[in-house]
Amino acid sequence: LRVGLLFGGCSGEHEVSIRSARAIANALNTDPNPSKYEVLPFYIQKDGRWQSPDIAQSVLESGVPLPSEETGSPTTRTHLWQFPPLAAEIDVWFPILHGPNGEDGTIQGLLQLMQVPYVGSGVLASSVGMDKIAMKSAFAQAGLAQVKYMTVNRSQVWSNPCVYPKLCDEIEATLGYPCFVKPANLGSSVGIAKVRSRAQLEAALDSAASYDRRLIVEAGVVAREVECAVLGNDQAQASIVGEITYNSDFYDYETKYTEGRADLHIPALLPEAIAAQVQTLALQAFAAVDAAGLARIDFFYVESTGEVLINEINTLPGFTATSMYPQLWAASGVAFPTLVDQLIQFALE
Ligand code: ADP
Ligand code: DAL
Ligand code: MG
Repeated sequence: LRVGLLFGGCSGEHEVSIRSARAIANALNTDPNPSKYEVLPFYIQKDGRWQSPDIAQSVLESGVPLPSEETGSPTTRTHLWQFPPLAAEIDVWFPILHGPNGEDGTIQGLLQLMQVPYVGSGVLASSVGMDKIAMKSAFAQAGLAQVKYMTVNRSQVWSNPCVYPKLCDEIEATLGYPCFVKPANLGSSVGIAKVRSRAQLEAALDSAASYDRRLIVEAGVVAREVECAVLGNDQAQASIVGEITYNSDFYDYETKYTEGRADLHIPALLPEAIAAQVQTLALQAFAAVDAAGLARIDFFYVESTGEVLINEINTLPGFTATSMYPQLWAASGVAFPTLVDQLIQFALE
């Protein structure tokens, strides 16, 4: 079976994708997999250009992104649709792209049109999972408890001086401080700010609006951050629950990706009933967006009240050798190479 390992991508999480793909490529060359699968890596540069397996392999080995080139005018952008010839020979795709243009249903739509099976969620779950506003609506509809939030459009921030002060007043009255300002469609905490004053709120709205047309503002909660991995399709299973701790103000980009800044605790030290509740909620969230294959679902556990609030679903979670998703499965009895094998098998179901 030819597996097309698709990585890189046009997103702020390009580098993470290279690291995830490297771990998966290793696993596909490790027992029980090598006789089963032939791996062909394909690399999407930050400018959208697809690179063939020989170049992709060198990026996997070096871990260094290829520099972007000018993509040019619409009439000269046809190279973006010229896939390397070997792409036509793939039996199953393993997209391991994080963030916009990869985790959001766009690539999934392309693979769907190619009529080749692929690992992970389809178009709907990927796009709903990526857009925090759509995601929260789906979770609310499924009855999952969440933090209080407000949705904001870029136009309210940038082009409407009459609405803007009222908007800030409303955020202060409804959510208070601290609150979190987020672009609706990014990942890895890119563009997110924790704000404690009107001046910070205004600056954060302005900055988040430069990333996305759709914004979300959430009431800040003081809580432990616990995560659960889900694997499977209609009969998906939940892993044991893990926890992230760190010393920074919140789990921002730097904390996520700087060695030694965050600690993973597996299993999380939680009362048994809370861990069981997290697993049940994770499966409900998976079903609420119609996810498939894999997802990591992140929660806030408010210890003082015993509440478990869902934060988000990640349909293509970080998959590096040290990432939470594979580590939760390893601790639940599914080793990394077996996990990769199972994901491919679920894609073929
Ligand atoms: P991303 O999709 O980029 O991971 P998140 O919504 O998970 O964005 O937010 C990133 C981090 O910011 C969280 O892991 C947490 O540390 C902090 N955070 C986000 N929202 C809240 C909130 N409402 N209350 C407290 N902390 C939050
Ligand atoms: N978006 C990053 C890769 C994660 O969720 O792990
Ligand atoms: Mg997150």
